[in-house]
Amino acid sequence: MTQTTPYPSSSNAAYAGFLHAYPTYTSTGALDDLRAREYARLDATGQIYLDYTGGGLYAERQLREHLDLLSHNVFGNPHSHNPTSQAMTCLVDQARAYVLEFFNAPPGEYVAIFTQNASAALKLVGEAYPFGPGDHYLLTFDNHNSVNGIREYARLKGAQFTYLPVVEPELRIDPATLDEYLGLAVPGAHNLFAFPAQSNFNGVQHPLEMITLAHERGWDVLVDAAAFAPTNRLDLARWLPDFVPLSFYKMFGYPTGMGCLLARHAALEKLVRPWYAGGTITISSVQGDGHYLVPGEAGFEDGTVNYLNIPAVEIGLRHLASVGLDAIHERVMCLTGWLIESLSALRHGTGQPLVKIHGPADLSMRGGTVTVTFLDRDGQALDDGRVEQLANWEQISLRTGCFCNPGAGEVAHGLTPEIMRTFFQRSHAPSFQELRGEMHARFGRDVSAVRVSVGLASNFADVDAFLRFAAGFLDRTAAEIGDVEAGGPICSTERDAA
Ligand SMILES: Cc1ncc(COP(=O)(O)O)c(C=O)c1O
Repeated sequence: MTQTTPYPSSSNAAYAGFLHAYPTYTSTGALDDLRAREYARLDATGQIYLDYTGGGLYAERQLREHLDLLSHNVFGNPHSHNPTSQAMTCLVDQARAYVLEFFNAPPGEYVAIFTQNASAALKLVGEAYPFGPGDHYLLTFDNHNSVNGIREYARLKGAQFTYLPVVEPELRIDPATLDEYLGLAVPGAHNLFAFPAQSNFNGVQHPLEMITLAHERGWDVLVDAAAFAPTNRLDLARWLPDFVPLSFYKMFGYPTGMGCLLARHAALEKLVRPWYAGGTITISSVQGDGHYLVPGEAGFEDGTVNYLNIPAVEIGLRHLASVGLDAIHERVMCLTGWLIESLSALRHGTGQPLVKIHGPADLSMRGGTVTVTFLDRDGQALDDGRVEQLANWEQISLRTGCFCNPGAGEVAHGLTPEIMRTFFQRSHAPSFQELRGEMHARFGRDVSAVRVSVGLASNFADVDAFLRFAAGFLDRTAAEIGDVEAGGPICSTERDAA
């Protein structure tokens, strides 16, 4: 019988192996001190947080600084002339300027439009991009649903949309296919190309060089940076994308409810808003039946902005800058490398690998998001819901499902157009669980997987805990591991437990 591949039996031995393989990890030691100071709640509560692509974590000092600001000042609704309003206006302007500085926007070239989240930023583009008959929306299979959703605006307005495939095994774009699809731009028409700088499905980083290539072929380019920005430097001056949506809570955890659309002036001027709202107009009239949009970001910020939270965005960005994105990136890459390497090495005694990795199995052009299907000793896929439940019991926060990125998942799971269409010819909307169940029963395929992601406050112990958890599946069958057990969600907090 083949020997089961062990994960080092003690964490100390594993750590020594890790440092040997990833010696640059020690250069990021300041992040261990930071975790002990600012993220102490992780270890105090015993939580193993591995869902940074879902949401980042905040440092306690961000909360203190924000609370301090709110506690010692009186702020009113901005954009009026009274003192409390003016004080707020100054902070909003200051935060906006810092957002542009953080992303190295060339002076005068970009605006930062505050939104509720990345999805709202995407909707601003989708609803206002001047699609019409003869125009084209090109988007990668690998995209979040909030980017997919823009196709409905294109469809509604008679424009064509085309999906650019990603290909197995790494789920990347083939350069020759890219070249062919970029040729679909209609000269003189409105052509929009959208792709994620980093996949939220599996961490693949698509080349930002595609921005220039697409510009040269007549496309406006939307780069979804929601999954990329938390651990990578996005340099607007270098890449010059037209539209960049992102969510701040993914970068630094707090506050939620704040995102932004970074847009080049020239691209913004092409947008035609389908409505106007308070705060977006110079003047509007009932009897005159007219309105004028304010140029720039103000024309896209509907109603009162989330003004008390906007200074917390600047606090969060300054926190990231003080920690150093390069150090965060380095640490995330070391941990991701160890995670992938160790998971790939785990094999059942039968010789079957423990996981199938959906995406790159090395560190080139990828971020800290790793998506896998667990396999039993006979090669049968384990129920990801059951894996999640067992992880929950060990206080490990990972994510399962399709991660709102159906295109990458369909390629990863080998789901064909014929299979997928059968689910869209019914009178009632199937739930995700129904889709999942029927996909297994009728087609023997999966729609979901297990995703772990590391970030700013991750350390070796988090990854080690996950690998030990994963090794617990070795040499077991799917039947032995069992199905999801009934039971409600975990609602306990530290306060409940106290
Ligand atoms: C790549 C990507 N784009 C867009 C979004 C949407 O972000 P939000 O839900 O904050 O609007 C997400 C969220 O996970 C994402 O990962």
